[in-house]
Amino acid sequence: MTMSTPPATSKHLSSLICPQVEQNLSIPPSPLKLGIMASGSGSNFEAIAQAIAAGELQAQIQVLIYNNPAAKVIERAHRWQVPAQLLDHRDFQSREALDERIVQTLRQFEVEWVVMAGWMRRVTQVLIDDFPDRILNIHPSLLPSFRGMRAIEQALEYGVRISGCTVHFVRLEVDSGPIIQQSAVPVLPGDTPETLHARIQQQEHKILPQAIALAAATQVRSGLKSEPI
Ligand code: GAR
Repeated sequence: MTMSTPPATSKHLSSLICPQVEQNLSIPPSPLKLGIMASGSGSNFEAIAQAIAAGELQAQIQVLIYNNPAAKVIERAHRWQVPAQLLDHRDFQSREALDERIVQTLRQFEVEWVVMAGWMRRVTQVLIDDFPDRILNIHPSLLPSFRGMRAIEQALEYGVRISGCTVHFVRLEVDSGPIIQQSAVPVLPGDTPETLHARIQQQEHKILPQAIALAAATQVRSGLKSEPI
């Protein structure tokens, strides 16, 4: 007797590409208080703000911290009426000194969860110790492949056929830490860093809000601290 394999449906395939998140996550009793750190255009900031507005993520953005005065993300913060603080890394003597000010600012705005949404600076133990398992990062590759800067160029140079994005908890080593959510995208013939990045970003905007909810629900379920630290 031969066993027949059920045909792969598009539902199966899409959950392979981006694992489905169960609908009934244990929602924390009150909206998550987010602090977002960003250095660039802020499309991921926008995705989080939209997910909140659409009722898909029970959260509020307490503050945006950005390190680059020219970053477009500031325009988005103004549009969403989110308080924004420029902490320009060039004004600080060391990475630790910058992180101390970041922690101070996050505390001042009563932040519980920190989301690095295109934050292009390495963080130190100063920040990590203050928000243990409460800092998330999004990276444009399927980690642990292609850590660090130029992740998309690295993937194209290597010649991978599948790339994607990862949301993970932040640890001291760059782009390392427990993975929360990933999504895969194909690399197509003729892709440039820009075309591949655009395809990856479509997935980033889906998984980042999901991953925030997932991370918070996991901590509630496992009995870890869910109250402001
Ligand atoms: C995103 O693609 C994110 O994955 C990447 O920066 C981009 C920010 O885009 N982050 C990193 O490379 C961190 N290592 P956005 O400003 O439009 O959100």
